Amino acid sequence: MLPFHQAAESDFLKVNELIVEQLHSEVGMVENIGHYIIEAGGKRLRPLLVLLSAKSCGYAEQQHIPLAAVIEFIHTATLLHDDVVDTSELRRGRTTANAKWGNAPSVLVGDFLYSRAFQMLVAIGNMDIMRIIADATNIISEGEVQQLINAGNPDISEADYYQVIKKKTAQLFEAATHTGAVLSGADRQVAEQLRVYGYHVGMAFQLVDDVLDYQGASEDLGKNVGDDLAEGKPTLPLLYTLKNGNRDEQKLVRAAIEQGSAEHLEAIVEAISRCGALDYTLEQARRHAAQALDYLVALSDSAEKTALEKIARFSVERSY
Ligand code: IPE
Ligand code: IPE
Ligand code: MG
Ligand code: MG
Ligand code: MG
Repeated sequence: MLPFHQAAESDFLKVNELIVEQLHSEVGMVENIGHYIIEAGGKRLRPLLVLLSAKSCGYAEQQHIPLAAVIEFIHTATLLHDDVVDTSELRRGRTTANAKWGNAPSVLVGDFLYSRAFQMLVAIGNMDIMRIIADATNIISEGEVQQLINAGNPDISEADYYQVIKKKTAQLFEAATHTGAVLSGADRQVAEQLRVYGYHVGMAFQLVDDVLDYQGASEDLGKNVGDDLAEGKPTLPLLYTLKNGNRDEQKLVRAAIEQGSAEHLEAIVEAISRCGALDYTLEQARRHAAQALDYLVALSDSAEKTALEKIARFSVERSY
């Protein structure tokens, strides 16, 4: 557990229990793969955001527990699919499900998790929450497809990049904080502030993820570094270098994106740090985290609010 989990510790333990319980299936392979990825851990940031958002708005009932589990199921489903799409081999410190069982089982168990999440949502029975989560899930898929289209193309704009990360990542953070607030019956204005807070945390989180894919340590991350380069993904560190690097650096990065090859990973890490691309990307993440904090100002003080502030800072300072 990270320090900010303490503010919701007993609820958090209930969410973890419910997650395991809801993995139930009469098909052994579904349970095996489900348990495999869920029990590897993960930071559980998104379900925590649900709990903290609901609690910071004074929620006193129990439906935030299944809502948090729903968000983690959707997140886990995106990870199973994402590792297939990215041909990744390490996740949460373990061999990915696709590397262990193959692509087809991973995709299908991802579908199981999505649909289980929707079964649980129906049981919660709040139409506004269903709408937010249905929309978010749809937009995440769109973002992943847009990213696929952009792969191998060094000529996309920063705006194209931001649109992808907003959809594929910030959208779920936003849905977590927004639905937590809506569940609690918060004022529209407060729910809106928490929604925008979640958006900015999500943006900071993915910007940093894209830095860590070059600069991180795979033992800390539990994922391999260099996966983005291997897929020819034009993330912000590369886009910045294409504009601001010297001629050799630009050439090197352009070729790596076009070929989708991590062959020159070391030289590229050198180039993107030398020309300031990693600093620039982190600076954008810091800006989003600062904006996230601004959207918390109007909330009344509580342990939950303090934890939300810590999460905004963690999204930038993290090394895993
Ligand atoms: C990974 O998310 C996917 C991204 C949006 C970058 P996390 O870094 O939150 O993954 P876990 O759940 O902690 O493993
Ligand atoms: C994460 O993007 C987005 C989703 C999971 C939808 P990445 O592909 O960068 O995530 P990691 O780095 O594999 O966790
Ligand atoms: Mg990936
Ligand atoms: Mg991906
Ligand atoms: Mg990544």
